[in-house]
Amino acid sequence: MNFELSEEQLLIQGMVKEFVAAEVAPIAAEIDRNHRFPAELIPKLAELNLLGVPFPEELGGAGADNVSYIIVLEELARACASTSVIVSAHSSLCTWPIFAFGSDLQKKKYVTDLASGASLGAFALTEPGAGTDAAAGTTTAVLDGDSYVLNGTKTFITNGGFADVYIVTAMTDQAAGTKGISAFIIDKDLPGFTVGEREHKMGIRASSTTPLYFSNCRVPKDALLGQEGKGFKIAMMTLDGGRIGIAAQALGIAQGAIDASVAYAKERVQFGKPIARLQAIQWMIADMVTEVEAARLLVYQAAWRKDAGLSYTREAAIAKLFASEVATRVAGKAIQIHGGVGYTESYPVERAYRDAKICEIYEGTSEVQRMVIAGGALR
Ligand code: CAA
Repeated sequence: MNFELSEEQLLIQGMVKEFVAAEVAPIAAEIDRNHRFPAELIPKLAELNLLGVPFPEELGGAGADNVSYIIVLEELARACASTSVIVSAHSSLCTWPIFAFGSDLQKKKYVTDLASGASLGAFALTEPGAGTDAAAGTTTAVLDGDSYVLNGTKTFITNGGFADVYIVTAMTDQAAGTKGISAFIIDKDLPGFTVGEREHKMGIRASSTTPLYFSNCRVPKDALLGQEGKGFKIAMMTLDGGRIGIAAQALGIAQGAIDASVAYAKERVQFGKPIARLQAIQWMIADMVTEVEAARLLVYQAAWRKDAGLSYTREAAIAKLFASEVATRVAGKAIQIHGGVGYTESYPVERAYRDAKICEIYEGTSEVQRMVIAGGALR
């Protein structure tokens, strides 16, 4: 067993830390306050190949491993959870399924642009009536000559309106249950495909979350991803990887809250000394550090298993469940350490608290992760 990062992983970590300090941290509070999608970061992320970390160089990626990718998401989230989820929805939920299940032609056409950051991706599974019960979607895709005709509504789509490419699930055989669901690669400009208004969210406010509408939208037959009827499996396998990314995001949010709390505790004086010298504060910091370290081991382990070609459904669910609940607890304690100012926008911990909460909800709620974990344990 080896708990050390490799030279390459350390190099990527150092590079992303520098990038975050120079480009992300300075705008994080502003883009949150103004609900502003940081479009200017996309070409900068692309220049450093941070939009294609775990994909091969010949397909436009950085050719790094999944542990490196998770480190990138963690470091981005340490300063800005919105930027982290923009990158993870793009890489884990859009580029990855095309890379894993696409034809050679689809990989050439899409993965190269997505991994190099020439285009941005999104993933659309959720519908107004199909959240946790992901198989209950009613969007349909009916084969008509050389195209499928899509009708229906998707909801809560990360990167909605800013993405160029969307992975969209739809029913191709309504009688076949989960085996009647197929996945499609949809270009943003297709007639009959429109993006709705952005949601006004509690946290991750700089990321875009929108509904998608399909109204007699004709999609070429060759936009089918994998085989007909395999869409649910593709979506579930995609989410297995995505959940490691959200776990890393939670980890970054929690670490950022610790960073802020340590700095504040050293400078804030009460009772004639910095509050860092009070045992009440020290104990909170000790608990925060312990929980985050435990979460980090779970998150890195899940990514490591993916790199090693081992199963990771269970480990991804465990990592996401634990890290996201840790992030909420740690961000809450960070506000407590800051006291009154922690409850204001003058310090980053109130944003961390708002941002942490979504990690317990998207890409499968904590309850869904428990279903997956218990399902494995009781099988
Ligand atoms: N890998 C491969 N196959 C899988 C799988 C996995 N991880 N999970 C399920 N499957 C397969 C099963 O083996 C089964 O196949 P067979 O019929 O051949 O046996 C089939 O899929 C159906 O499985 P279930 O019966 O377990 O399916 P279910 O309908 O009971 O659903 C669930 C299970 C875990 C609750 C699932 O619906 C789920 O994960 N729900 C949450 C959805 C979710 O995470 N949504 C997030 C949306 S994306 C988002 O939030 C992103 C964003 O914008 C940032």
